[in-house]
Amino acid sequence: MKITFSPRHAVGQADRMLYGHFLEHFHRQVYGGVYDPSSKFADEDGFRADVLEALKRIRTPIIRWPGGCYVSAYDWRFGVGKERVPTFDKAWRVEESNEFGTDEFVKLCRKLGCEPYICTNAGTDTAEDMSDWLEYCNLRDMGRFAKERIANGFPEPHAVKYWSIGNENWGGHEIGAKDAEEWGRLVRESAKMMLRVDPTIELSASSIDNLDWNINLLRAAGRYLDWISIHSYWDFTPDGVTYQDYNTVMLRTGEDISGCIDRVRAYLTALGLEKKIKIAYDEWNLRAWHHPNLMDIGNRDVQRHEDEEFYREKVLGERNRNDVNATYTMADAVFSAAFLNACLRNCDLVKMACFSPVVNTRGAIFTHEDGIVLRPQYFVFDLYANLLKQNVLSLWKEDVPTIRGEYRGVEKTVETVDMVVTHEDGAYAVAAVNKAPDAEQTVELALLDGKVSRMRIHTLNGPSTDSYNDIGRTEVGVTVSDWLPFEGKITLPAHSVNVIELC
Ligand code: AHR
Repeated sequence: MKITFSPRHAVGQADRMLYGHFLEHFHRQVYGGVYDPSSKFADEDGFRADVLEALKRIRTPIIRWPGGCYVSAYDWRFGVGKERVPTFDKAWRVEESNEFGTDEFVKLCRKLGCEPYICTNAGTDTAEDMSDWLEYCNLRDMGRFAKERIANGFPEPHAVKYWSIGNENWGGHEIGAKDAEEWGRLVRESAKMMLRVDPTIELSASSIDNLDWNINLLRAAGRYLDWISIHSYWDFTPDGVTYQDYNTVMLRTGEDISGCIDRVRAYLTALGLEKKIKIAYDEWNLRAWHHPNLMDIGNRDVQRHEDEEFYREKVLGERNRNDVNATYTMADAVFSAAFLNACLRNCDLVKMACFSPVVNTRGAIFTHEDGIVLRPQYFVFDLYANLLKQNVLSLWKEDVPTIRGEYRGVEKTVETVDMVVTHEDGAYAVAAVNKAPDAEQTVELALLDGKVSRMRIHTLNGPSTDSYNDIGRTEVGVTVSDWLPFEGKITLPAHSVNVIELC
């Protein structure tokens, strides 16, 4: 295989917010994840210092909160103030202590030096409720909500720049779901009220890879929006035990990733908005979260006979299967790198992506009483957020090997090697993923209009495609070579994610 590139031919500039994360009030993400005052790792504000350290190391640029499905019945007012009363979370059917609310979230982000990104409740809340939340966060002192923030100990505005209206309101699973026309109207009216509170915010709205939904949304509210939010998960486990294996996952790394971006780009272009509205891929993960006996609430036959034991085991207990670290292997790392590569190739339009979630459940970091486990996906962020440069270059590819196979009756062909070249001030960082389960790949790199003489290779890998990390077990990690003379070729080990520095 050979790739040719030149610093004179760039696709665009990669936004650091592509390496963002998502935090929801589900399972052990907030309580027992980032926030755990009872932990021996807790800092003065109850945050897990070891988790914060790990998030700083991957230069987390933005975190979306509080949900996900959780937000569509969330009342932000119960999450602020001296007195926090527990509420019943109708999305996930558990009690919410409200100990962690808006002020704690903003404090977390300020500690991490990242942008807070708030998703509003467009399920049960009104346009006014959403704009009230913005008043609380961003108005200096006018009105009752800003004064309430000041009284709660925050004299300075929280200055939350990034806001999204709603979460997956297109879906029957979502509380307060809307049809396309309703959605367009609600987003328009909510945006008008929010932008009257703070016209400087960046505003997104929940969307989906669907023409009709986008036409209604963008015709009604496009002029008020800076972003549209889309979500993707690829492996929906039927039982929390059976997952797509490495080879199946590799077949999902081609059109199954890029197709959605291409179609959403087409919707925006058709409406002449591709230069105005950016894509926020603000929930993505190979593995969909496991939370059975909830979304199928319509199955009255099951629910009707629910008892304490069923609730404890089949509703709550099942969620602990997300914690099984053996689930997250080199398949997750290679897939995550292929996803970020697709975003980088579309960096003119995809300007934000939030890995779902940031900690625990399917996240890159797993917490336990005595520390944290860094799952394979974590190191993809470590390599990409710390080593890739800003300018993404166009690539001329020749003799690209492919992987073929059938997925659910459909013939799939994906490129075995997935590469992105980034550049800044004469230095290059090449992200190179070898999806082959058992063969190394040699790639010739041809640089035009520039000269480099040496290289250093960072390789994320494990002994096998199924390697994983766990408490007391570290199989997957990054090895770094010395600086070597660059002779125009690189060799990528099987099932590996690599970043090659060239200068
Ligand atoms: O499974 C988690 C959920 O996935 C998020 O809450 C929601 O936004 C998405 O459907």
